[in-house]
Amino acid sequence: MRLVLCESVAETGQVAASIFAARVEQGPCVLGLATGSSPLPVYQDLIRRYRESEVSFAECVAFTLDEYVGLQPSDSRSYRATIRDGFVDHVDLPVGALHSPDAADPDPEALRQAAATYEETIRLSGGIDVQLLGIGANGHIGFNEPSSSLASRTRIKALTQQTREDNARFFGEGETVPKLCLTQGLGTILDSRHAVLVAQGEGKADAVAAAVEGPVSSACPASVLQMHPHATVILDPAAASRLE
Ligand code: F6R
Repeated sequence: MRLVLCESVAETGQVAASIFAARVEQGPCVLGLATGSSPLPVYQDLIRRYRESEVSFAECVAFTLDEYVGLQPSDSRSYRATIRDGFVDHVDLPVGALHSPDAADPDPEALRQAAATYEETIRLSGGIDVQLLGIGANGHIGFNEPSSSLASRTRIKALTQQTREDNARFFGEGETVPKLCLTQGLGTILDSRHAVLVAQGEGKADAVAAAVEGPVSSACPASVLQMHPHATVILDPAAASRLE
């Protein structure tokens, strides 16, 4: 695992964006995209590079990490809509090349089928070349909450109360954050050729310390990245503040 200690939030975005841009410049590739606040500086920097004709995503395919159960893809709160709004619709990545787990139908059998289809689609695409990740305050990556199997594949997961509270900011007052999601598994994430985790802010400092310096354990799902053959963890000073 390679650690990059940055001086600012903006620099975390620039460093991660450089990794993505370098891979995209090599030719057709498969990108793994994350939602939430952490990747926003990365997307901002990639959008700037696209606008300045430094990089083109026209030959890329992309997979999102996770999706809430019961939201239509057109729902502005869905992760598919969020990733389009924050990144894909601002660059030349074809919308048809953006894949996300189909979690709209809450029927358990439909969700199991959608999870299997997602794994198969990733496999048929040749696997994810560069996977962007954020980390939850409880150490989750994707929506692999603590106690997730380190070998897990895309599946239905229940969100913890903490994650639902953390993500309530993306929902309106009186709206309920879904209780279930479809998420790539830790085993799926481990299969990516390069995993790039970005974390900013003191609220992530304990999770980062556990992920980087603690035991490899499902108590902190991000610690599985210690076993990844090519993982880069990019931190601002606050997120790095509890590293020894
Ligand atoms: C989102 C995802 C989550 C987030 C994590 C951090 O697709 O998979 O693991 O990356 O919850 O969220 P933020 O960045 O909003 O703090």
